[in-house]
Amino acid sequence: MKAIEIRKKYLDYFKAHGHIVIPSSPLIPENDPSVLFNTAGMQPLVPYLLGQPHPLGKRLVDYQKCVRTNDIDEVGDNRHLTYFEMLGNWSLGDYFKEESIKMSFEFLTKELGIPVEKLSVTVFEGDEDCPKDEFSAKCWKDAGILDGHIYYYGKDDNWWIAGETGPCGPDTEMFYDTGKPACSENCQPSCDCGKYVEIWNNVFMEYFKDENGYSKLKQQNVDTGLGLERMTMLLQGKETPFDTELFKPVMDKLSELQRVDIIESRRIVAEHLRSSMMIIADGGRPSNLDRGYVLRRLIRRMIRQMNKLQIDLNELSTLIDINVDNLKEMYPELEQNRETIKQVIIEEKDKFVKTLNHGEREFEKEVKRLQEQGKDTIEGKIVFRLYDTYGFPPEVTKDLATENGMKISMEEFDKLFKEHQEKSRAGSEQKFKGGLASTGEMETKYHTATHLLNAALKQVLGSHVHQRGSNITAERLRFDFSHPAKMTDEEKAKTEELVNKWIKDAIPVERFEMKKDEAIAQGAEAMFIEKYGDIVSVYKIGDVSLELCGGPHVENTSELGEFKIKKEESSSSGVRRIKAILIEK
Ligand code: ALA
Repeated sequence: MKAIEIRKKYLDYFKAHGHIVIPSSPLIPENDPSVLFNTAGMQPLVPYLLGQPHPLGKRLVDYQKCVRTNDIDEVGDNRHLTYFEMLGNWSLGDYFKEESIKMSFEFLTKELGIPVEKLSVTVFEGDEDCPKDEFSAKCWKDAGILDGHIYYYGKDDNWWIAGETGPCGPDTEMFYDTGKPACSENCQPSCDCGKYVEIWNNVFMEYFKDENGYSKLKQQNVDTGLGLERMTMLLQGKETPFDTELFKPVMDKLSELQRVDIIESRRIVAEHLRSSMMIIADGGRPSNLDRGYVLRRLIRRMIRQMNKLQIDLNELSTLIDINVDNLKEMYPELEQNRETIKQVIIEEKDKFVKTLNHGEREFEKEVKRLQEQGKDTIEGKIVFRLYDTYGFPPEVTKDLATENGMKISMEEFDKLFKEHQEKSRAGSEQKFKGGLASTGEMETKYHTATHLLNAALKQVLGSHVHQRGSNITAERLRFDFSHPAKMTDEEKAKTEELVNKWIKDAIPVERFEMKKDEAIAQGAEAMFIEKYGDIVSVYKIGDVSLELCGGPHVENTSELGEFKIKKEESSSSGVRRIKAILIEK
C-alpha cells in the first residue's frame, strides 16, 4: 500500500466514524513566534484540548505536516527523519479509551490488514499522579490483542506531553513486530533493538501539568499520532523509509548521479531535500535565526553530502523537479511553489559554495598545522574563526573534523560565540531586522511588552503563570496564560504598574544565542521547550525577564510608551487571556 493510500484510508475510516477532516496546519505555526515548527498534530489544537469548543465539532481527523529537528544529526541512519507526516484523530471531550482503542484495533487489523499476532501494545503502569491503566489493557484484550502482548510501563514510555507543561496524560502505544529475532530473552516493545517498531500513540489527555503538578482538565480528550512514513515502510516490508515510493525516485537519481557510493549521504540528501522543500513551500526562508537557521542548516548539510557523493550541484534543479513530481499529489503546495523552491535552494547553494571554498582551504591549513603538532582537537577559537570569517556553521566544521579523524572543542566555541553576540549586539540587531522586514515597529514593541507582561504576571500572581498563547497585531497584544481565577482589579492595576515601571526604568533588551540546555539551566521561560532547535535565541530584559523567543524586540524598554490592560477574561479551563495596548507618549 502506498503512503497516499494509507493516508486516504485513515481519513476515510475516521470520517465514517463521525470525524470531520480538518486540513493540515502549515509547518510554520500561525501567530506563535515561540514555536519553530509544528511537531505534532495536537499542536494547532491545544486551545480545543483545553476546552474551547472547536467550530467543526468534537471528533476531528487530519494529517499534519511536522518537522522535528532534535534528531538532525542522526538522519542518515535507517529511521530518523526531520520532516514527517502525522496522521491523527481527536476526541475533544467526546469518546475516550474504549472507543479509541476499538477504532485503532479495527483500523490496524481490518483496514490495513495487519495480522493480530504482529501487534503488541503498552499501557501506563500507574504512579502517584495517575492510576494504573488497567481499563485500557482490558479494552485491548476485549478488542482482540493476544495474551502476553500487553505491557505496562511508567512515565518514560507511556505518558505524553509536548514539552514541560501543558495538556497531557497516560498513553497507549501500538507496536509492530518486524519478525526480526528477539535480541534477548527479555526483548520487548520498550527495547530499541529494532524488533518492535512503534506505530501509533493514543494519548488519553485528561490532565494539565504546570509548575505545581498535575490537575484534571475539564474534559477527557483523545489525541493520537501515527507516523505515515514508518507505517508505509512496515506495510511494504521495507527496511527503511528511503526504500518506499516517498523517497525512491530521488534515491535512484542520486545513485545514478553519484561518483562515490555512500548510502548515508544519499539518505541525508533525500531527506533534507524533502524537508527543505516542505518548509519553503510553507513560507520558510534561510536565515541565521531560528526557523531560518534550521532551514539553512538542512540545505547546507544536504550540499555537503552532495559534495561527498561528488554530484554536480547544478543537478539540484533536477532533483527538486523529481521530488515535486513525485510528491505533488500528496502536497499540491509543492507544485504551486516549484519555482520559488528552486530559487531559494539554489540561491542558498550559491552562497554556501563560496563559503565552503574559502573555509575549506582555511580548515585544511589548520588541520595540517595541528597534525604536525600531534594534536587531535581543533580549538574553539578556530571553529569560531571559521564561523565568524567564513560563515562555516560549527556543525560543518564538526563533520569535516570527523572526516579527518579530529575532534572539535564545542565548549570553547560556545563561549566565544556568546561573547561575540554580546559585543556585537547592535550589528546582529541590524541583521535581525533585515530578516523580519515584515514586522512593523508597533508589532515589535508589542513583542517586548508581552515579555514584560509575562514577567509582571509572575510577580503579581505567582510562578505558576506561564504563556499559553500569544497573538500580536499593530493595534494590541493578546496574551493567554495559566492561572486558575479571574484577576482582581487590584491585581490588574499592580500588573500595569509593574510593566510601566520597567518601561520607565529604560532597561536594555539583549539577545543571545545559546545552547538550549544552557538556556533552560539559566531558567529561561519558554512555551514548548521541545519544539526548539539545539541553538536557541534568548531575550534578556535586565533582571526582569529571560525568555526563549524568535523576536523581534525593541532595544530598550523606554521605547514602549504607556502600557494599559484593556481586558482580562477566561480563555479556557485554567487559562486567562489579557488584551493590552501601548499608548504612544
Ligand atoms: N501527540 C502524540 C504524539 O506526538 C500523539 O505522539
